[in-house]
Amino acid sequence: MARLEEACEVERLDGPVAAPTLVRHVPGKQALICLLTEDVNRTVIEAGRDLRIIANIAVGYNNVDVEVARARGIVVTNTPDVLTSATAELTWGLILAVARRIPEGERLLRRGEWKGWALDFLLGTELGGKQLGVVGLGRIGRAVAAKAPAFGMRVAFADEASPEALAVPEGATRLSLDELLVSSDVVTLHVPLTPATRHLIDRRALARMKRTALLVNTARGPIVDDEALVWALEERLIAGAALDVYEYEPAVHPKLLQFENVVLAPHLGSGTRETRIAMADLAIRNVLAVLGGEPPITPVP
Ligand code: GLV
Repeated sequence: MARLEEACEVERLDGPVAAPTLVRHVPGKQALICLLTEDVNRTVIEAGRDLRIIANIAVGYNNVDVEVARARGIVVTNTPDVLTSATAELTWGLILAVARRIPEGERLLRRGEWKGWALDFLLGTELGGKQLGVVGLGRIGRAVAAKAPAFGMRVAFADEASPEALAVPEGATRLSLDELLVSSDVVTLHVPLTPATRHLIDRRALARMKRTALLVNTARGPIVDDEALVWALEERLIAGAALDVYEYEPAVHPKLLQFENVVLAPHLGSGTRETRIAMADLAIRNVLAVLGGEPPITPVP
């Protein structure tokens, strides 16, 4: 805030800020710094007649109507790269948590129900020797894949991009989404939310997964049809799930709360002190660049 205030006049609204409130506050502003919790839709953008930049503090920018902004000559920026490592780390945290039943064990222990060590007590799934299926081989998908050998996992990935556009980690196998779903022991989602990826993981996809497989989502909630996931868990079509994002967050499907084999995190992917500072810093640098007549540092593609 201090850096911004040195360079411009700043109005701060504490979020999440609803679209109608944004509509009242954007007129007369040259820049909007927003979070993934703000719906920067056509009405907001049209109300921002003086806007030159919308700087989203997130790598995902499905909350901004980029086409409308672009048509009005407004630059949209996001915060790629700086959060890749934090999000990949959280993804592995969730994979380990669900595979080794850590939150389930902690709940049991806190309830005072732990009777002591037993040979067959709360057995999880070993990761070594298994296949990690990475859906979306962008920056975060690659960073998650890069850590797989440390756990003795082989990597398969599915991505729509052309082979030349992909930096494939050594030893990783490219599969179709269907082949990946059928053969992976852990399926982890790293695609952006677009009309094409909304409900990518639906009933059909879940039914293709191994009954022993785990589903992990640290991307965007609506990529998974939560109702279908509940169905798949009830029918025991998959062995468990670990989620950081939800279709209607912050609301969580009430049935998801009831499964012991589902790990639930409150959208913490980029949530380290280091990364959040770097994200805010990048958004500020984007704003100051554009307002100073320079090109943005990280415009959305
Ligand atoms: C967080 O979810 C982000 O897109 O940065």
